[in-house]
Amino acid sequence: MKKILFVTSEAHPLIKTGGLADVCGSLPKAIAELNQDIRLIIPNYQALKSSESVRFLFSLRVDNRNINILETKLPDSNVLVWLVDYPTFYNFPGNPYVDEFGEPWANNAERFALFCRVVVEVAMDRAYQDWKPDVVHCNDWQCGLVPALLSLENNRPATVFTIHNMAYQGLFPVSDVVLLNLPGQLWHPAGLEFHNRLSFIKGGLVYADFVTTVSPTYALEIQTPEYGYGLEGLLEYRKDSLGGIINGVDLDQWDPKTDVYLSHKFSTKTLDKKRLNKAELQAKFALPINDSVPLFGLIGRLVEQKGIDLILECLPELMGMDVQFILLGSGDKDFEKQLEELALQYPNKMAIKIGYDESLAHLIEAGSDVFLMPSRFEPCGLNQMYSQRYGTIPIVRKTGGLADTVTDTLPETLLNNSASGIVFNEASASSLLEAIKRTLILYSVPDSWKKMQLNGMKKDFSWQKSAQEYLALYDSL
Ligand code: ADP
Ligand code: GLC
Repeated sequence: MKKILFVTSEAHPLIKTGGLADVCGSLPKAIAELNQDIRLIIPNYQALKSSESVRFLFSLRVDNRNINILETKLPDSNVLVWLVDYPTFYNFPGNPYVDEFGEPWANNAERFALFCRVVVEVAMDRAYQDWKPDVVHCNDWQCGLVPALLSLENNRPATVFTIHNMAYQGLFPVSDVVLLNLPGQLWHPAGLEFHNRLSFIKGGLVYADFVTTVSPTYALEIQTPEYGYGLEGLLEYRKDSLGGIINGVDLDQWDPKTDVYLSHKFSTKTLDKKRLNKAELQAKFALPINDSVPLFGLIGRLVEQKGIDLILECLPELMGMDVQFILLGSGDKDFEKQLEELALQYPNKMAIKIGYDESLAHLIEAGSDVFLMPSRFEPCGLNQMYSQRYGTIPIVRKTGGLADTVTDTLPETLLNNSASGIVFNEASASSLLEAIKRTLILYSVPDSWKKMQLNGMKKDFSWQKSAQEYLALYDSL
């Protein structure tokens, strides 16, 4: 049995801003099911909600600060969660990265550097808890200093760093190197320095024993200038210790047969009931209740990554077709405004909700016919997998995890029962429109459509296989 300390800045259902939380809330459970001793460590934000009891475990002194470690559990599991409690940094309204007005916390470097230092103390068992991990598994830039700081320790655990998104790197001014009192050995261009700035993500990319990404295709893409953000050289240099393991889906949360958010649950055998969700969704958004009109859905962060600009460019033409479109998301204020204006222009065809709404996200997956995900890049992406599970046909661009999890519908893939979505290549509005038109043709042939739905619903997106891959990786270190 391996001891694994799993380090993250968010985990569903404790705290979530995006897919990172979905993964960090479900992968540890899947690893625990393989009989491993895995514990999660996360800052104790004010917004963090635990439905399980929380108890004080021990205190630490780090960086001249008194830190308490509290213990709780991931709901529906035996996975212990250690909360790093330091109210001066974490006890404020807002999310892990931005304040209640959407501005990044001014002290983000200090907040996450302290978190990383605490993780190192715990990983070295310097609080004498008689628990020293064999592996410390870190996720995204917020945990990047952990592999770097651990590299300076004797008799340290092995380290894994998982990249969920190269677009977020944790870059800070040089002055923070002094402020954070970082060891001088780490400060050089082949270390934490990136063009005269402090890079948290480099702490993971340079110093972790192994680096993973959340899909095999993204692992290759980030070794090229288009996706590497200037770190492609480093990633290529590390290619023997770099690999992709595809994310799974938490079937306790995302299964149309048992989904607690749905009034009308359904499965491959009762696919007919999907239409009840469609009607409920249309009613909720005050769109005409009509089963035959194809309903397009989109859920996500409204940022360039997700190809929102392509959607905006397509929308006037799309609105000329016999379709409906529902969008749930928040992010870039400019995108939000443009989408709101378009929704006002087409009240019978388009409806949007700006904000974050977990239960509505489930209804949109269940009630839509088509899910739009034209991402410019996508390390893995979860919504295209949820869509397939819910009999909703995803339209995706061939990139990252989208390329790895959606099979395009072609005569041969329809014949061999693998077709489960529509895949297009180029990040342009015209390619997206072409994909939409191809989708509408298939929608008009109910037999093919149903076949695609069932192919997607039957795919195995469970965590089992990927959890085993992570375990094999831990074993190899
Ligand atoms: P990313 O992590 O890049 O945002 P993913 O597809 O991996 O993209 O995961 C996004 C997750 O966040 C999904 O669970 C999705 O349903 C959820 N999500 C994104 N935006 C919203 C929103 N506005 N309301 C509810 N859930 C959302
Ligand atoms: C990131 C990526 C997304 C991925 C998620 C979980 O937020 O943008 O593609 O699915 O992390 O790994």
